[in-house]
Amino acid sequence: MQSQQTVGGADGPVGADAATPAVPATATQPTAGPAEAAIRLVAVTKAFPQATSPAVDRLSLEVGRGELTALVGPSGCGKSTTLKMINRLIEPTSGTIEVGGVEVRDQPRHELRRQIGYVIQQIGLFPHRTVADNIATVPRLLGWRKATIRARTAELAGQVGLDRDLLDRYPSALSGGQQQRVGVARALAADPPVLLMDEPYSAVDPIVRAHLQDDLARLQQELHKTIVLVTHDVDEAIKLGDRIALLNVGGHLEQFGTPAEVLRAPANEFVERFLGRERGLKRMALITVAEVPLGGGPMVQADAAPAEAEAAMAAEGVDWVGVLAGDELLGWADGADLAGAARVGDAPRTPFRAFVRPGTTIREALDNIVNSRTRVAVVLDDDDRYLGMLTVDHLAEALE
Ligand SMILES: Nc1ncnc2c1ncn2[C@@H]1O[C@H](COP(=O)(O)OP(=O)(O)O)[C@@H](O)[C@H]1O
Ligand SMILES: [Mg+2]
Repeated sequence: MQSQQTVGGADGPVGADAATPAVPATATQPTAGPAEAAIRLVAVTKAFPQATSPAVDRLSLEVGRGELTALVGPSGCGKSTTLKMINRLIEPTSGTIEVGGVEVRDQPRHELRRQIGYVIQQIGLFPHRTVADNIATVPRLLGWRKATIRARTAELAGQVGLDRDLLDRYPSALSGGQQQRVGVARALAADPPVLLMDEPYSAVDPIVRAHLQDDLARLQQELHKTIVLVTHDVDEAIKLGDRIALLNVGGHLEQFGTPAEVLRAPANEFVERFLGRERGLKRMALITVAEVPLGGGPMVQADAAPAEAEAAMAAEGVDWVGVLAGDELLGWADGADLAGAARVGDAPRTPFRAFVRPGTTIREALDNIVNSRTRVAVVLDDDDRYLGMLTVDHLAEALE
């Protein structure tokens, strides 16, 4: 699809870095391709001249292929410096960085950056080029044919959720959120296996940010890029990260794990403080109903005798009974109303107003529980068949 023509790195979307001296390329031919695109940092240090202490001090980290790894930490802890060392906008003082199994200092910058898309908060679109031309920056540098570029641009617009009508506009005519989408489309244009994102959403308002985050999650399910996302927002890291790396000042790695692991067992007080309030609720947002053993509940068939309902209520310690017709849940009846009924189905019944599905988070299930008269969340499958129910106790057990 793309020519092998050599391109100048300085004109690429990653911006100019003419100040850094060229590093001689070795004989190693980088074989770029998604199969090799993982990132490994070993004891990476960056000490800026004149600085009293290193911005990043002996950081070791492995970024899984096809995963989104979030680097999260307070301002000034070395997140951006780390990211820029991966695509050689900044050269490390010591240590090694591999991308796709090859040390980055052994790769010419333009070769390296062909494998790495880069998205920044300031977006940095070229103001005098149309949106389409901005997106096509790298394909044009690579000498793609015009028709190929046009088709690719249209495809990318669709993938990032950008209305095709916007392609002929100039960036200034776009909202912040739309500009950010253009930035992502541009970074993805030549289909690099790696995407580096530095606080991409911190300049947009919370509602737009949430949309952009959802779009990225959806896009990632489709594309499976190796993504390193820098953010100071721990909730963004938890929402988007397959793994999160919590960094402290000096690029000190305090903890590295999946969001669920980190939330369940913060390594230390720094991590605990950084995760913030409502750690339990944040964990619950990562667990689905399908992962929790359900209770059967005080359920009886509509044609059962009231005595059976009494037994079910006694067993569960409640004063109501759920009424089923096969696996269809008809509603619930108050224990007090069963007395005169020949069958449970004859007693007055109240329908359950809210349900959860196996894919619902247990955080939402908790909301259901506290809002329901019966203090349970009723679980139905996608065909509305009764699967079971959850109480606060079930949720608490799931969190242990
Ligand atoms: N070009 C530079 N020259 C000197 N110091 C720098 C430079 N870039 C960053 N720093 C310093 O390195 C530290 C880490 O910065 P940075 O990586 O930008 O942090 P973060 O992205 O986590 O906010 C900070 O103390 C910052 O002031
Ligand atoms: Mg930064």
